[in-house]
Amino acid sequence: MKRDFLSIADLNKEEIFEIISVAQEFKKGRYEKILKDKIFALIFEKPSLRTRVSFEAGIKKLGADTIYLSQQDIGMGKREAVKDIAKNLERWVDGIIARVYSHRTLEILSKEAKIPVINALSDLEHPCQILADLLTVKEISGELKGPLAFVGDGNNVCHSLILGFALTGGEIRVATPKGYEAKDKIIKKAKQIAEKTGAKIVHTYDPREAVKNVKFIYTDVWASMGQESEAEIRRKVFKDYQVNFELIKIADKDVKFMHCLPAHRGEEVTDEVLDADFSIVYEQAENRMWAQMGLLKFLFKEP
Ligand code: CP
Ligand code: NVA
Repeated sequence: MKRDFLSIADLNKEEIFEIISVAQEFKKGRYEKILKDKIFALIFEKPSLRTRVSFEAGIKKLGADTIYLSQQDIGMGKREAVKDIAKNLERWVDGIIARVYSHRTLEILSKEAKIPVINALSDLEHPCQILADLLTVKEISGELKGPLAFVGDGNNVCHSLILGFALTGGEIRVATPKGYEAKDKIIKKAKQIAEKTGAKIVHTYDPREAVKNVKFIYTDVWASMGQESEAEIRRKVFKDYQVNFELIKIADKDVKFMHCLPAHRGEEVTDEVLDADFSIVYEQAENRMWAQMGLLKFLFKEP
């Protein structure tokens, strides 16, 4: 049976650790052309630097090839129904990697296509980002315990982080303004998983409380792609949630700063913090490629 990757919770704890360990091997240069002759369709309804390049580069390193399709090219759901796009693509390619506005689009692709579908970011989750982040945290601390504080918007990245920490049994604290919390259904699912893994998930409205003694502070933009019209109002709502030196000082003395990028310098994070030696944002970006190569090996392994 094909395996899709729409949510980080499509994997269990052992599978996440397996993918991270394969990614670490790949990063040492120990990889072969295990996906020779495969072709992947990369559908992007929104812009991307990291996700597109890290997938294209990683896929080519594993001996496969890619076809990039922008919204202008295929007009998913406009020029043609999502279902028909799935039913066509499965005739030519081996996997679909899609960045979409609505998570529902991924669910349709997954239901209708006989080939694996990978979420390259939706309004609900960004699971490929979080695989790379877990790899990065593991490289730095040798484990996945955290504690990690996510400060900002309860968005797609925040959702996948919560689920990722729930699955791997670490501690995550989330600080958001009122009205911008993570979705209830994500928290509910994460808490159910945490009952089995022993993970600790805490929400607060106070960023200072969230970052007390944490080893990792993570933030993301206040207005995600598609929310540009809300940017001005969000700048006001989120102004006390900026990650700056004042906030960093409350964390552990060896705290690391994380951001999925792209960053809006001077908004959710100051230049000083983003450019500091404790900022690991470019390690996260590099790890996108290794983690996704590990994911592809996992999804395409022979039964
Ligand atoms: N972090 C991330 O997904 O970056 P892109 O939007 O550039 O792909
Ligand atoms: N939350 C951001 C992440 C970008 C990688 C967005 O959805 O735009």
